[in-house]
This record gives sequence, structure tokens and C-alpha cells, in this order.
Amino acid sequence: MADETIVDIEPHAGVPFADLYAQYVEIKTEIDAAIAAVIRTSAFIRGPFVERFEEEFAAATGAPHCVSCANGTDALYLAMRALGVQSGDEVITTAHSWISTSETITQAGGRVVFCDTDAATYTIDTRHIEAKVTPRTVGIIPVHLYGQPADMDAVMAIARRHGLWVIEDCAQAHLASIGGRQVGSFGNVATYSFYPGKNLGAMGDAGAITTADATLARRMAMLARHGGLKKGDHVIEGVNSRLDGLQAAVLSVKLKRLRDWTRRRQGLARSYDESLAGIAEVASPRVASGREHVYHLYVIQHSRRDQLASHLARRGIQTAVNYPSALPFVPAYAHLAATPEQFPNAFRHQTRILSLPMFAEMTTTQQQRVVSAIADFR
Ligand SMILES: Cc1ncc(COP(=O)(O)O)c(C=O)c1O
Repeated sequence: MADETIVDIEPHAGVPFADLYAQYVEIKTEIDAAIAAVIRTSAFIRGPFVERFEEEFAAATGAPHCVSCANGTDALYLAMRALGVQSGDEVITTAHSWISTSETITQAGGRVVFCDTDAATYTIDTRHIEAKVTPRTVGIIPVHLYGQPADMDAVMAIARRHGLWVIEDCAQAHLASIGGRQVGSFGNVATYSFYPGKNLGAMGDAGAITTADATLARRMAMLARHGGLKKGDHVIEGVNSRLDGLQAAVLSVKLKRLRDWTRRRQGLARSYDESLAGIAEVASPRVASGREHVYHLYVIQHSRRDQLASHLARRGIQTAVNYPSALPFVPAYAHLAATPEQFPNAFRHQTRILSLPMFAEMTTTQQQRVVSAIADFR
């Protein structure tokens, strides 16, 4: 009887896309103590918890300066304001990302110029960047999408040839590296998101910017804090984009585990790779030589993506599409009148990509359920 019950339940047991509660349970004592400490000292805005996290995150990423802010979108906006983007300046970025990467170009006063992606890695195809450079181009924003670094050697070579700045959007790629060198250390500035589901996630919105340029760091910090570093100082006009003490305290606790959690994600990715290798129609992620992928997302391709997603949903397995439409084709950019021929890879991927459950706490049983459900799909 007991066996029958298990047999009946097991095949239908669900697998979430991510499980933030499982992560909390693992570190509950420390998180609760950290939150209590912030409340006890009322250090809600800036203060010691924020300053400590900025130092710790700079150390973890190897960056000389870290400026915290309210979220990863603001990080991009603040970086571009500090770099002095002017009305009409053109910024080249990838056709495949979350809209924050491009909408902040417009917010900062610039003009978005999209570039197609590489067929294998989903990151910006550096072979097409130079054709997009005009006398108005001021910078390039590569995105280390899904956790795989973009080809930064090629991006930086182009930037040097044309005198352009580079912002690395590291929102999905904490601790990823190229040839042992961490992402974020190649360009002028790196931006991070600590949205709860990210590899390093807060319990609300949070973000940061890192740089080796002290002048830029100071300017970004001023912009994030109403244009001055001390209360009442308004050297320039800025915005209100502050990391709060509660989020900083939570992030400090989680940062200590980030390396370990990243290894777990990489281990899960290896298991997926091995198990899915024999299943026809499924294309697993490909990692370019020398690049360390941190698997914020594990994205497969399938020619019948929507049917596969429905099949998995029926078995209680959550998946996601990151993202259903490549940026040039979302209504917000209808004025660009983009055609599939201009962005063939990004266009093709939008109907084929599917993100499978991926989180550090995922169990072997959960992963096996996902794999066997995919294997059963006809
Ligand atoms: C590539 C990319 N850039 C920027 C952002 C913006 O981060 P946030 O949600 O913290 O504003 C995200 C977050 O989803 C992202 O994935």
C-alpha cells in the first residue's frame, strides 16, 4: 500500500523553476540574525551594513570600487549618466537581453543600436559590432547572458580601436570568468543585479556597480545619492537609488556562499548536459572555450518549445522563456522597424529557447524528474 502511494505520487511531484525558500531554510539562522541586527540599529538607509557589503562585493569581484544602488536597472542608468551620455549618442548592445540593458540607454539620453547574437552562446556577436559603429557611437554594452561571459577580448579590441567605453552587464553572471579573469574587470564599468532570483539575490530589489576608475566611482555614487556624498550636499543633480541596510545585510550573508552555490549550479549543469545528450531534438547550452559559465539559467533549444513547455507544466515542472521576444521585436522598439534578416540568430532563438529549473538547492531527484519528463516527450 505504502509502495503504491509512492509510485502514484512520484511521477507527478512538481519541480519549481527556482526555490528561494529552500535557500532561506539553509541559512535561516544567519539571515534572521542579520535582519534583526539592522532593525536593532535602525541602519535602514546606507550605514554600516551597506558600507560593509560594498567592501565585500568589491573584494569578491576583485574590483577596486563598488557603488551599491537600488537595482540592476539603475546600475546601468547611473553608469551611463556618469560616463556622460549625451542626447543622440549611440550605444551598441545585444539584441538578446532583459529590457533593462536597452531601456536605460534611452533613459540616459542615448540611442539604442542593437547587434545580433552569436548562434552558440547567445551573447553579442562581436563580428557584427564594428559595422554598427558610426561617428555618434560612444559605447558598447555586452551582456554576459544566462551566466556565460561575452567575448570580452573582441569587445575590448573594438572599443580601443574606436575610443568607446564598455559597460559589462553582469546581472546574470556573478563570478563568471574568462581565462580565469572575472567578468566585470574588462570594461570601464560593470553592473550587477541582486534581484531575488539572481545567483546572488537579495530579499527585494538591489544592485551594484563596480569599476577600477575612482573618478567614475565617485560620480556614480553622487548620482545615486541626490548628487552628493554627504547629506545636504548636492554637487550635481542626481537620483535616489540607494541600497537599503536590510538588503545589504542579507547580501553579506549570501555572498559568503556564492562560490559554493555557483559550483553547485555548475554541477547541476554538467548533469543536465550528460543526461540530455542522448535526447534527440534537445540542444544543450554550449560554452565557448576559456569561458566559465555560472548558469544563472540553464537554457536548452527545442524545435517544439511551446509543446515541450506545456508537457512539462502538465507534470508540475516549471520552466521559463528568457525571453519570449528578442529586444528589437518588442513593441517598445517598433519604431526601429527591425526585420528578422537583421537579427537572424536572436529572431530564431526566441521561438526555440526554454529555461529549465536551475537553483543551487535543486536535488538529484528533482533534476531526474525534469530529465525523465523531457525524455518522455514525444
Ligand atoms: C541582463 C540583465 N540586465 C539588467 C537587469 C536589471 O536588474 P534589476 O531587475 O535588478 O533592475 C536584469 C535583471 O533582470 C538582467 O537580467
